[in-house]
Amino acid sequence: MCCYLLEHYLFRLYFQRCRRAVSKVKLGYVLFCFGMIALLEFFGAFVHIFEITYDENFVYPYEGNVHEFVSALRRNEKPEVEPINEYRYAFILKQPQKCKEDADDTLRLVYIVKSAIENFDRRTAIRNSWGIEKRFFDVPARTIFVVGTHPEDEEVEAKLKLEAGIYKDIVQADFVDSYYNNTIKTMMSFKWLVKYCTNSKFYMFVDDDMYVSVKNVVTFVRNPANYPFHLMESRKVYSAHKREIKRSDLIDYNDVNFNNKNATYDPTIKMSFTQSFAIHESTNNDSQRNVYGKQDRQINESRKIEKERLLRLNATTLNRVKRQFFDLELPDDIRLFAGFVFMRSAPHRHKFSKWYVTLKEYPYHLWPPYVTAGAYILSKEALLDLYYTSFYTKHFRFDDIFLGLVAKKADIVPFHCEEFHFYKKAYTKYSYKYVITSHGYEDPNELLQIWNEQKALGNA
Ligand SMILES: *[C@@H]1O[C@H](CO)[C@@H](O)[C@H](O)[C@H]1NC(C)=O
Ligand SMILES: *[C@@H]1O[C@H](CO)[C@@H](O)[C@H](O)[C@H]1NC(C)=O
Ligand SMILES: *[C@@H]1O[C@H](CO)[C@@H](O)[C@H](O)[C@H]1NC(C)=O
Ligand SMILES: *[C@@H]1O[C@H](CO)[C@@H](O)[C@H](O)[C@H]1NC(C)=O
Ligand SMILES: *[C@@H]1O[C@H](CO)[C@@H](O)[C@H](O)[C@H]1NC(C)=O
Repeated sequence: MCCYLLEHYLFRLYFQRCRRAVSKVKLGYVLFCFGMIALLEFFGAFVHIFEITYDENFVYPYEGNVHEFVSALRRNEKPEVEPINEYRYAFILKQPQKCKEDADDTLRLVYIVKSAIENFDRRTAIRNSWGIEKRFFDVPARTIFVVGTHPEDEEVEAKLKLEAGIYKDIVQADFVDSYYNNTIKTMMSFKWLVKYCTNSKFYMFVDDDMYVSVKNVVTFVRNPANYPFHLMESRKVYSAHKREIKRSDLIDYNDVNFNNKNATYDPTIKMSFTQSFAIHESTNNDSQRNVYGKQDRQINESRKIEKERLLRLNATTLNRVKRQFFDLELPDDIRLFAGFVFMRSAPHRHKFSKWYVTLKEYPYHLWPPYVTAGAYILSKEALLDLYYTSFYTKHFRFDDIFLGLVAKKADIVPFHCEEFHFYKKAYTKYSYKYVITSHGYEDPNELLQIWNEQKALGNA
C-alpha cells in the first residue's frame, strides 16, 4: 500500500518538474518528459523500484512454520491451525480403479498428463507412444489425463465422456479449463493422486504437448545425481577394452557438484552418489526426510562397508559392480522434486506480458526456486508433503510458481536437470539420446514419428 503512495508521490514530483519546464523551455522537453515516464512505466521500472528484496525478506502466507500442521494432516489428525487454501472441486470423472487394477499393485511410475478437453488427438498419440503402460515389463506404470470443464460446449463434453468410457484414463474435475486455472488443474491432480494413487514410487507431471523418453525417465530416477554423465562414463569404460579399471576408480570418492549448471562431464569424476546425497541435504533441521535424506552417519557407514567390499574384488567383478553403481535405487523416503529449475528468476513487471504480476500479488524481486511447468518428477514423499503444504500456501495463478512457493515452505529444494527441455530441443536423430522431455510437440503426428524413431534407436 505504502509503495503505491510513494509511487504516486514520485509521479507528482516528476509532474511538477515538467510543469516548470513548460513555462521555461520548449514543448519538446515536456513531451520528452512524458514519453520517458510512459516508457518506464510500461517496462515496469516504477514497480521494480518498489520490489522487496527476496533474499532477506521473503515470506508468503501462511506466515509461519507449517511442518507440524503438515505432519498432523498426513497422520489424518486435526492441525493446530486450519488450512488457508484448499481446492475443493468435485471430480466428475474419477477412475478410482486406475492405479489398483492389478493384484500386485505397486507401481514404479505414474504419468499424470495435464491435458485440455479438446486435445483428443494428442491424448491418442500419447497412449500410442510414451504413455504406453506396458512399455517395460519390469516398470509397472500408469498414464492418467487430467482435464477441467467446458460448460458451454456440450459436444466436446460428450465426446470426452465417450473417450473416458473407452480408455478409463481420464480424470475430470469441476472447474473451468483455462490458462489461469492451471494451478487448480495441478492441485486437483495432486488431490486425485493422494486419494486414489499413493501406491507408486514416482509421479511424473507432463503437459500433453511434450515428448517423453520413458527409458530416460526410468534411468533418471535410478540415479538423478549423475544423469546423464554416468551413462557416458560407463559407455566409455565398456568400449575401451584395453583400459583396466583401477581400484582407485571406485574407492576414491571425489566430490561431484551436480547442482552446478556449469558442470561439464569430467572423466576424473568418480562415482560418488553417497556423497551426492550429503551435498543435497538442506541446511535446515528437517534433514532426515529431505531431498537426499539419509543421515550422515548412515552414509558414512555404508561408504565404509562398500569400500571394504570393493577392495576384495577382482577386475572382472569390479566392472559389474561399477555398473551397479551407475544404477542404484533411491531410498523410499527421498523427497525428489526434479525438472528444469530456475533458481533465481524475476517476475515480469511490464504491463502487457502474459505473465505480468502486480506488487500486490507478489512483492519480491525474485521468485523462489521453481521447476518449469511442463514436466517434472516427484517421489511419493515429495508428492505428499507438497500436497499438504499447499493447504498453507496462498493461491497463486501460475502453477509452477505456486509449486515453487509450496516447495520453499516444505523445505524441498528443487533438483535441476538440463535434460528436461522446456523449449523444443532441435531434433536430429542423434540429438535426443539423453533427452528426458522436450516441449513443443503440439502436432500428434510429429510426436509419434520422432518417438518411434527414438524408440528404434533405443533412446525412448
Ligand atoms: C477457474 O475456474 C473457476 C471454477 O470453475 C471459474 O469460476 C473461473 O472463472 C475460472 N477462471 C478462469 C480464469 O477461467
Ligand atoms: C563456470 O565455468 C567457468 C569456466 O570454466 C568458471 O570460471 C566459473 O567459475 C564456473 N562457474 C561456476 C558457478 O562454477
Ligand atoms: C538445528 O537444531 C539444533 C538443535 O537440535 C540447533 O542447535 C541448531 O541451531 C539448528 N540449526 C538450524 C539451522 O536450525
Ligand atoms: C565418518 O566416520 C569417521 C569415523 O568412523 C569420522 O572420523 C568421520 O568424520 C565421519 N565422516 C563424516 C562425513 O561423517
Ligand atoms: C573374479 O572373481 C569371481 C568371483 O568373485 C570369479 O568367478 C572370477 O573367476 C574371478 N576372475 C578372475 C579373472 O580372477
